[in-house]
Amino acid sequence: MSKGDKKMKGIILSGGTATRLFPLTATTSKQLLPVYNKQMIFYPLNTLIKAGIKDILIIVTPEHSGQYMNLLGAEFKKYGIRIIFEVQKVPRGLADAFIMGEGFIGKDNVTMILGDNIFEDDFSEAIKNFQSGGHVFAKKVSDPERFGVVKFDETGNAVKIVEKPQEWISDYAVTGLYIYDNRVIEAAKNTKPSERGEIEITSLHNYYLERNELKVSTFDGEWLDAGTFDTLLEAGRIVKEKEIYKNFDPLIDAAVEEFNAELKALAKKRLL
Ligand code: TTP
Repeated sequence: MSKGDKKMKGIILSGGTATRLFPLTATTSKQLLPVYNKQMIFYPLNTLIKAGIKDILIIVTPEHSGQYMNLLGAEFKKYGIRIIFEVQKVPRGLADAFIMGEGFIGKDNVTMILGDNIFEDDFSEAIKNFQSGGHVFAKKVSDPERFGVVKFDETGNAVKIVEKPQEWISDYAVTGLYIYDNRVIEAAKNTKPSERGEIEITSLHNYYLERNELKVSTFDGEWLDAGTFDTLLEAGRIVKEKEIYKNFDPLIDAAVEEFNAELKALAKKRLL
């Protein structure tokens, strides 16, 4: 099979423990909490669907798998979008998405997005034009020590990526959207857990960086990581103010409308 024959699969990593949002996440998954007028997961789902991805794997926790099935398991297939679910029993790290997703990815390329990341920009071109290697997206932040951080040289090429650097190397954090070719599965399998016991996605960036096959782009729009009380509140406010909630693919709007109509009909029946 030549490179051009490969499809692009999509993974949303929507498990985790969400300790920073306790006790909100004692009753539901972080990525099902509301961000303005939709559950958080719709925002990363939109990033994938807008880019024309039709095969999507959502990785969820055992406790919340039913809620995800209920919300996303029925409507989308009518629109030609196949959504499947896998349960991650233990949060082993972001790179685990590619090990869990091995069978789903098959021989194709893959775009992975974190279930609590909201992007204002449309990444369709980058995803559709992807050929091989890796492509990740960096954004300037005020607290780089919390992220995987990328150092660029004078010409704008990425030279180094470090997970949560203790010493400052740059202000550019690698955000939660990653496009990789099929080798990412093997790279993930060969990754050793870090000191905190997770298989780090930074190791995968470095696999491609070492081979000179990693593209790191910066972007202008909002990047919201809705993982704390403050950032969750801020995400809702920005989504409303910047009208990010109006940028949904018509297909998502239609599926959500259908879901809502069913809920309304059910509610009515219960009242009668
Ligand atoms: P984090 O925000 O780093 O972790 P978390 O969601 O468990 O939250 P907290 O730090 O408050 O305990 O995870 C980023 C995203 O990746 C989030 O959407 C959850 C997801 N995730 C998984 O699905 N599986 C994993 O093994 C890990 C580490 C994260």
